[in-house]
Amino acid sequence: MIKIKQALFLVFGITSFIMFYIGLLNYLTTQDKGMGLIFLIFSSIVAFGTLFAGLYISKNITKPIESLAQRMNEFSKNNYIKKISVDDKGIQELQSLHKNFEDMANIVGGALEKEKQLNLKLHEIDTRKTEFMSMISHELKTPLMPIMGYLQLLKKQELMGELNEKQLDAINEISISTEILQKLIQDVLTAQKIDLGKLSVEKNIVESKTLVENSYKAFNPICENKGAKLVMSLKTTEMVYSDPDRIAQVFSNLISNALSFIPEKDGLIEIGTQDNSDYVTFFVRDNGVGISEDQQKNIFKKFYQVDTSSKRKKEGSGLGLSICEGIVKALGGKMWVDSTVNQGTTFFFDLPKAKIPIERFQSFKNPAKSKK
Ligand SMILES: Nc1ncnc2c1ncn2[C@@H]1O[C@H](COP(=O)(O)OP(=O)(O)OP(=O)(O)O)[C@@H](O)[C@H]1O
Ligand SMILES: [Mg+2]
Repeated sequence: MIKIKQALFLVFGITSFIMFYIGLLNYLTTQDKGMGLIFLIFSSIVAFGTLFAGLYISKNITKPIESLAQRMNEFSKNNYIKKISVDDKGIQELQSLHKNFEDMANIVGGALEKEKQLNLKLHEIDTRKTEFMSMISHELKTPLMPIMGYLQLLKKQELMGELNEKQLDAINEISISTEILQKLIQDVLTAQKIDLGKLSVEKNIVESKTLVENSYKAFNPICENKGAKLVMSLKTTEMVYSDPDRIAQVFSNLISNALSFIPEKDGLIEIGTQDNSDYVTFFVRDNGVGISEDQQKNIFKKFYQVDTSSKRKKEGSGLGLSICEGIVKALGGKMWVDSTVNQGTTFFFDLPKAKIPIERFQSFKNPAKSKK
């Protein structure tokens, strides 16, 4: 790209040269040397005049334009420009362009700086709020331990004395509510850790199939109990580099959710894996009530629950999916949902495949053989 200064020099330079050349050519070829000399002097004056005009224009137009371009560049990089004194003798419009730009840059720069400070403050307040919530949740957790311990003792009647049926029912109710409270506190703590970027994950090389099978084993009896069918569909058995306990947590919330929204009769939940280049995609599919497109946009937000009235069969805090997404992200993957109202929902999450040499891969698949 050519610069304005170069363009002006080119135009004025060529014009001056042509003027001078015409004058010289005329002088060399004309019979009337006197007239030729006058024409040569005249064309030389015009050529030099054009050259000086070029220099003048360059100084007064190109310099301020170049400096303006430079200052704009500086502003776009730093949101700040240094104050400079513009030549008073220059072209008036360009001077006011400089001044107006400087004023505008100061206003915009000031506003941006204020916004930056505000964002920093907000971030600080947010972190403090999260830390405070975290502390409260911890404090709430402490008295829960003895409550749960004594409930267990009360249930062991040989230790604490006989209880009648009504008393036992009451204790069971207290137990259930205490467990819900404990899960809620644990979820708030986990969500907080995710927000603070302090979620601990312990990654290992593990077969994707094992992750699905473990969740299948844990949930099959619960599903059978509720008259629902749980099936596995494994399209890949590749190794992933991930945290099995955290993945069990993700499956647990997704299957529990599915169980809450499938029909009472013919409820079907499918869990499994699919290959997806560098990732293994895990999924939990159900034939439940589904989630509308509008609600899908909010589904991973903390405390979000779809209209509670008709569809819900259970209570919850609305933290489950945000925790699942936080865990998957912390493990280097992503999570998404696909759903059709009245047909069903599928939650997917990707986990990075383990990048290991083929011999090691064999030893992970078949540890007994490799030891020989
Ligand atoms: N499989 C599903 N089918 C239909 N709606 C679902 C499904 N999974 C989740 N949802 C909707 O998304 C909401 C958020 O789910 P999420 O797991 O985050 O919270 P929750 O289950 O209500 O509470 P918890 O914190 O105990 O998990 C649910 O309340 C429900 O409305
Ligand atoms: Mg849930």
